[in-house]
Amino acid sequence: REREMADLRKVNEMARDFFHNCLTMTHYGEAGKAYFAGRDISPETIEEFKLGFAPNAWDKLSTAFTKRGVKQEFLLACGLSAERNNGGGLYDRFRNRVIIPIADERGRVVGFGGRVLDDSTPKYLNTPETILFNKRKLLFGLDRSHRAIQQAGYAIVVEGYMDAISVFGAGVRNVVASLGTAFTAEHCQKLLRYAPDIYFCYDSDEAGQKATIRALSIVRDTGAVVRVIVVPDGKDPDEYIRKHGADAFRALVKEALPLVEYRLQYVLKHVNYDTLDGKVKALHEMLPVLAGIKETAVRSEYEKKLAQILLLDEGVVRDELRRYARGA
Ligand code: CTP
Ligand code: MN
Ligand code: MN
Ligand code: MN
Ligand code: MN
Repeated sequence: REREMADLRKVNEMARDFFHNCLTMTHYGEAGKAYFAGRDISPETIEEFKLGFAPNAWDKLSTAFTKRGVKQEFLLACGLSAERNNGGGLYDRFRNRVIIPIADERGRVVGFGGRVLDDSTPKYLNTPETILFNKRKLLFGLDRSHRAIQQAGYAIVVEGYMDAISVFGAGVRNVVASLGTAFTAEHCQKLLRYAPDIYFCYDSDEAGQKATIRALSIVRDTGAVVRVIVVPDGKDPDEYIRKHGADAFRALVKEALPLVEYRLQYVLKHVNYDTLDGKVKALHEMLPVLAGIKETAVRSEYEKKLAQILLLDEGVVRDELRRYARGA
């Protein structure tokens, strides 16, 4: 199996170079270059991340690699090729898409993401799960960012590779992407090896907010200090940086909300606490969050704050919290 993994890594590396050369050195790449330019992705960033392009053809990669002696079973096992229905050989999984190579934390290519150039669907196509590519464990960018994460003392987690590339390009280098919105306990353990704190900066749309709440609950019992970077008006970090610039983004990072604060704002936005039912619901959603605060002084401050906002007696909040902590 080790042997097979090494073989597949080699093929992935060849594919990364193939896509990158396609983008930077052939006429096939023009559409891809135009796409990246339209997103303000510089030639330096294209080099840094070895971004690429998959030509608009059925089997350029499969044919070229087969000619170079790459076994068909390897192309299939890497998820780079698929078998034609009529038994007539292989075709390329990635066609007419810009390509983002995805590496493990040691910088070894394990898979690819491919994005369409327009609004067609699916917007992103990733390498399927292979013996190398496991989305639950992978954090895009960690190979380039782990030193910066150690230095900063925290990692910034974004949704997409485009976000990570943009944030990195803005000079904020302690960033990784969770390849979608599913942040796992494995991701968390991996990041905690480099720094004790984690800042989430998911899209501020409804899906991103939900994902943030889910991620926070995964991180809650690990001892990590968690903050949330809130990107204004429904945007994602990439859109925000393109519109407002790197300094504005750095300011958002400085204003990152502590976990409790974010949870409180979220609950108050989603629960109508005018009614008694609403107050009870808001209170119960906040109990696990309050119970997770280790510092008594801080916890007491938030008990007070919550009671004031919900127009409840402070003693009620404290009693409920005590009951919750006892497991009642
Ligand atoms: N994603 C995916 N497949 C999809 C949609 C999303 O794999 N059909 C993953 C990708 O890793 C993507 C991330 O989820 O980068 C975030 O999704 P989304 O916010 O929709 O994409 P963006 O990164 O904002 O894409 P873009 O800016 O290129 O439109
Ligand atoms: Mn190059
Ligand atoms: Mn999103
Ligand atoms: Mn985006
Ligand atoms: Mn997005």
